[in-house]
Amino acid sequence: MMISEAMNTKLNEQIAAELSAAHAYLAMACSFESKGLKILAQWFLNQHCEEREHAMKIVKYVQDVGAVVVLGGVPAPQGDFADAEEMVVAAHESECKITSMINDLVSLAEKEKDYATRSFLNYFVDEQVEEVASMTDLLDLVRLAGDNILQVESRIRHQMISKT
Ligand SMILES: [Fe+2]
Ligand SMILES: [Fe+2]
Repeated sequence: MMISEAMNTKLNEQIAAELSAAHAYLAMACSFESKGLKILAQWFLNQHCEEREHAMKIVKYVQDVGAVVVLGGVPAPQGDFADAEEMVVAAHESECKITSMINDLVSLAEKEKDYATRSFLNYFVDEQVEEVASMTDLLDLVRLAGDNILQVESRIRHQMISKT
């Protein structure tokens, strides 16, 4: 095994955190879908898929370094948000929490002179900048739109089209 027991445990915790985020974003996508907000539903479904990819990247890395994948529990996501703003605030908080978990992993890798894991984590360091930025943008949009959530939908739809 090329990584320490402590690092193995922390990476397994990160897999569970990414899968929990995926689960929470799927719940948010379903909530938007049920309100007829299909663009926001699609946006959160895309986030769901990204979080699953993050989890799978770590699964593969843990296996590549000869360590053992142990899956933790994925809690039932919160379902009773008052409005879109409250939901996006929770998503933003989740991204900030994940960012600090990634930073803790980087600190551990550096402390242990585990340069392979340190290098592997660079992708996640960069990715979290993007993730927090896009969730901050969404939160700004939702707050600007106020009661007119359809404006958020049309803005996001334009962004999605220009990306493809
Ligand atoms: Fe993630
Ligand atoms: Fe994320």
